[in-house]
Amino acid sequence: MTVKLYNKKTDIPEGVTVFIGNKTDYIKFLSDEKQINYLNSQFEKDKNIVEINLYNSQMYFVQFKNDKISNENEKIRAVGSKITGLLNSEKIQKVHLVDAGNNSETVKYFVEGMYLANYSFTKYYKDEEKKKPTFDSLNIYSDSLKKEELNELLNVANAVYFARNLANEPLSGLNALQLSKKLKETGKRKNITVTVLSKQEIEENGMGGLLAVNKGSELPPTFNILEWKPKNPVNKKPYMLVGKGIVFDSGGYSIKPTKNSMDLMKFDMAGAAVVAGAMSAIADNNLPIHIIALIPATDNAVDAKSYVPGDVIKMHNGLFVEVLNTDAEGRLILADALSYAQKYNPELVLDLATLTGAAAYCIGIHGSVVMGTAGNKVFEKLEKSGETVYERIVRFPFWDEYNEMLKSGIADLKNIGGSEAGAITAGKFLERFTEYPWIHIDIAGPSILSKKSAYRTEGGSAYGVRLLYEFFKNMI
Ligand code: BES
Ligand code: MG
Ligand code: ZN
Repeated sequence: MTVKLYNKKTDIPEGVTVFIGNKTDYIKFLSDEKQINYLNSQFEKDKNIVEINLYNSQMYFVQFKNDKISNENEKIRAVGSKITGLLNSEKIQKVHLVDAGNNSETVKYFVEGMYLANYSFTKYYKDEEKKKPTFDSLNIYSDSLKKEELNELLNVANAVYFARNLANEPLSGLNALQLSKKLKETGKRKNITVTVLSKQEIEENGMGGLLAVNKGSELPPTFNILEWKPKNPVNKKPYMLVGKGIVFDSGGYSIKPTKNSMDLMKFDMAGAAVVAGAMSAIADNNLPIHIIALIPATDNAVDAKSYVPGDVIKMHNGLFVEVLNTDAEGRLILADALSYAQKYNPELVLDLATLTGAAAYCIGIHGSVVMGTAGNKVFEKLEKSGETVYERIVRFPFWDEYNEMLKSGIADLKNIGGSEAGAITAGKFLERFTEYPWIHIDIAGPSILSKKSAYRTEGGSAYGVRLLYEFFKNMI
């Protein structure tokens, strides 16, 4: 989508125009009392979008009443996303947006909602052009919004698009090698250094978790290292991200048991996609932080060569793990990445993963489950960022008693807990591989959507990109 910014002195051409402001700001754009009364009566009926047509001009006036959402910014994004739906249903291509209230914040949230809602994944339709949204051109008329602010917003939104594209790609289009290739290409364009460890290097590093999960695969695993290191970063020790890159999760020999539970498992690299998206947003906006992302990648397949329940594997940090469920594979590849992170002596590590069905059962699609060893202040910062961008987090208990559930009779620990507290025992497993302040973010619920939810589109929502960007922006 092309987005252009003009000041309000510019003549607004005829066509479709959306006005953003309040009732008094709108009066000067209306031609008579009848229109004003009509607009007011519609607003009083709690209509958030009122359309007024005059010959060649189609005008939309908006307000942001919404009892279902408590967050004021989100109310604005929600109306923005609704407008996008309306424009596409009417096959409109070009839209003018007038900042009638001279409020750059409101315009920003509105454009964010509009832009994010206009995403589509259409490459697998023969008649792709027909499937694409018609809306593809936005002209903003504002005296309050700065060009830099708009650019920053669009960079983040495009990073969300990038992450959604990665997540939505099925295994047939994105295996571990193809993922690495995509990361390399993208890194090159954005001055992110991307290093991909080959299977041999992964072996030399003793990443037994990643290698075990990969045993059943037709293809080698990859271990991707993305580094953004600007000239004068604010942090001495790097921040780090780790993303789960399971490009397809069949469950392995502990094959996914319930009906349809495998259907969405191309999304099991959503963590990797979000981490790559966040790196892209950080680099495009030139944030002065030193940050490194690690993405272990493979599929989890059933084959004669696959790892099986009962196997004991030696992990990157030397711990032995008894595998009692090959479907608890995410924690095995993440554990190796987390212990590999140690060599960078990180300030803080955040991992993002579609790790457990339990997390999704607990809180659904409206937030992610977090836990870890970082200080309360860091959790509070993340929580605040989550509220701002409306990618909210819920902190779960992380008591040591849960470690009991991971005791193995034959090795240092086993890779599953019990039937209870599945999201937490997964986190407790990961903790054994960390020696620095760390937060685990289980995005199993919100990152995979079976239907769109406002501007979060169906399929991979890229939930987490905006959260991470906001969080790291607040670090500077
Ligand atoms: N990728 C799944 C978790 C998942 C489930 C993500 C549904 C998104 C939607 C993960 O690898 C997994 O299979 N977890 C198991 C763990 C269990 C075997 C301890 C689960 O949650 O059932
Ligand atoms: Mg699994
Ligand atoms: Zn998985």
